[in-house]
Amino acid sequence: MGTRTIEWRDGTVVTIDQTRLPQEVAILEMRSWTKVAEAIKTMKIRGAPLLGAAAAFALALVAYNSKAENRLELINELEKAAEILRGTRPTGANLFWAMDRILDKARKFSGDREALAAFVVEEAQKIADEDAEANHLIGKYGAELLRDGDVILTHCNAGALATVEYGTALGVVRSAWEQGKRVMVIATETRPKLQGARLTTYELKRDGIPVTLITDNMVGYVMYKRMVSNVVVGADRIVQDAVINKIGTFTIAVLAKEHNKPFYVAAPKSTFDLNHTSKDVIIEERKPQEVTQIGSQRIAADGIEVLNPAFDITPLEYVTAIICESGILYKEDFDKFKTKHSVG
Ligand code: MRU
Repeated sequence: MGTRTIEWRDGTVVTIDQTRLPQEVAILEMRSWTKVAEAIKTMKIRGAPLLGAAAAFALALVAYNSKAENRLELINELEKAAEILRGTRPTGANLFWAMDRILDKARKFSGDREALAAFVVEEAQKIADEDAEANHLIGKYGAELLRDGDVILTHCNAGALATVEYGTALGVVRSAWEQGKRVMVIATETRPKLQGARLTTYELKRDGIPVTLITDNMVGYVMYKRMVSNVVVGADRIVQDAVINKIGTFTIAVLAKEHNKPFYVAAPKSTFDLNHTSKDVIIEERKPQEVTQIGSQRIAADGIEVLNPAFDITPLEYVTAIICESGILYKEDFDKFKTKHSVG
């Protein structure tokens, strides 16, 4: 792989199987959209912005491999695939946003079937390119908020692995590091799927950025001990009144407020869903075994009830600022942004 987490190479979508990291860098090559759907479902591909690019490339595969006889037939195939892809992971906004963008443009496209197929592939590539570009801008703006010597606490993995390139929350850290600021990261392990322990530490270690791993229940302790300068996390969906991100984010936000520490959310505008509120969001509920087992080892008593929501909801009053490719949005800026960009 180059610097990109996902790439289109002449009818093949190439990415890394994230379930095998950090033990093994296993390259996944997918030539059919159903393989991409399966990789999303099984979390070989994960992270909201990466899911957007992957869904876009899945539609590119539909177009590339299509035997449709005309434009309308191809649109129909794209819509059917999109319907199934929408059912893979319900919470992150980018997957829906990317497919809606392609389908809207495909419906308005006036060329013939061949031209439409080529257009869909191009549009998917554009979505991936724009994500990479957005992350570098997020990094640039976000780095202004970090000082030399800062310790940044992050949750889950909002890094290069969760995006097409560079990362959102980790893009901010990376950018500060590249500017010569000696920042350090505290990464939470992120039960139950351990994206922090497996992916965030792997990425930062690879880049030589100092990182310390803690379990999720140590956040209160490290804040109490004044070991944290600020929190930077990513987002799966940003609605009018809240940020939806990996389960455990809200707990960290409450602790940050209690300790007077800034709580920043770094996300591209493709994660924004400003026509909805937190009440409209479907929080993905995952299987109980992720909680009752560690690997294949059962750790909980048999026959118990388990709750396993993959994401939680952080009301905006806990968020110091949202860092996106347009800049740093403090509360007033975000309010203006909402008025300008929401419908109705
Ligand atoms: O379940 P995951 O691993 O897909 O969840 C990922 C997160 O919650 C990330 O914080 C979020 O997608 C932002 S990634 C730039």
